[in-house]
Amino acid sequence: MKKAAFPLLVAALLAVSCGESDKEMIDRVFDVARQQYTAMDAALGESTLPKTYENGALVTSDSGWWCAGFYPGSLWYIYLKTGDESIRALAEKNTRKVYPETQFARSHDIGFVTNCSYGNAFRITGDTVWRQPIIDAAHALATRYNPHVGCTRSWDFSPEGKGWRFPVIIDNMMNLELLMEANKLCGVDSLKDIAVTHATTTMKNHFRDDFTTWHVVDYVPEDGSVHMKCTAQGYSDDSAWARGQAWGLYGFTMMFRESGDKAFLTQAENIANALISRLPEDGIPYWDYDAPDIPNTLRDASAGAIMASALIELSHLTGNRSYFEVARKQLHTLASPEYLADPGENGHFLLKHSVGSLPGGSEVDVPLTYADYYFLEALLRLEGTF
Ligand code: GLY
Repeated sequence: MKKAAFPLLVAALLAVSCGESDKEMIDRVFDVARQQYTAMDAALGESTLPKTYENGALVTSDSGWWCAGFYPGSLWYIYLKTGDESIRALAEKNTRKVYPETQFARSHDIGFVTNCSYGNAFRITGDTVWRQPIIDAAHALATRYNPHVGCTRSWDFSPEGKGWRFPVIIDNMMNLELLMEANKLCGVDSLKDIAVTHATTTMKNHFRDDFTTWHVVDYVPEDGSVHMKCTAQGYSDDSAWARGQAWGLYGFTMMFRESGDKAFLTQAENIANALISRLPEDGIPYWDYDAPDIPNTLRDASAGAIMASALIELSHLTGNRSYFEVARKQLHTLASPEYLADPGENGHFLLKHSVGSLPGGSEVDVPLTYADYYFLEALLRLEGTF
């Protein structure tokens, strides 16, 4: 993985926050992660992957769940940090579980599933055995592209009464990384073109004047006009669902890194500034920035972790130190007992207090694989590993 050139990093690592330096905190969390994620594997079946922990029980999924790639991805990050070969063996085993998903795109989530598992396996080991599924998956994702819309389609369903025909959710920005990675591996330029066009279309149609984003934009597939802007997981159609905002921030930061298009960098900065101005003191967002019962409502640790990872990269790309400091605060909060589980607790997940879908009544105030994945990624970025 690429080393980040960030001269102030040494100072940050020596800095003390809440009595614990960044380095001490990062080492402590990865020690917990090594223990928890090793025990997690022992609780899984041959083809199952962790989903969450609810009512004292581990909930698992097969490889078809959109989160299937995060557990293998976290194992790769723990291996990258520790060099522990037993963790590498678990990472390899759990990456192979998602192979079937790399061969067809049941939704846009093929990007999350493949890039976090096979993508990290290839980037971290350089072993070409992991390479082809990344290329296969990118071509499968590209079949969901509609040139009239200028986006890949997210979901194939519509909630009753909505009549969605070509829904694109802000989360889909994350899946563009698979297209960009595959373009570098196989040289097929249409993959990159699709990703850049998707990001440009999203920048035009998903964002409000205050740089918050709608969750869902539904398009008319025949002419690319916008049919509806609404939410699926937020408080209301016009609210700022916290994880969606974090996906947008991360997605535009990543797309600038991958494409060099300055418009994406400006978009990421505008999103970051809008969100930072609305964060609570400890840096962890409420599940929706517009939830009417703030401060008496739930935080979403996953939104905090995704945002922290994106802010550190944005800080490197812009040289704006303030993004790095916000992320540091978020990561020290997530590493505190309020959020980080002790070994043996929390169904072997790391972070407590994430929200999957509050309006849907699913995965409310629970651990989630993607909160852990982006937390570990952000810590590696804080450390300067990449
Ligand atoms: N991509 C689905 C979610 O963030 O809940």
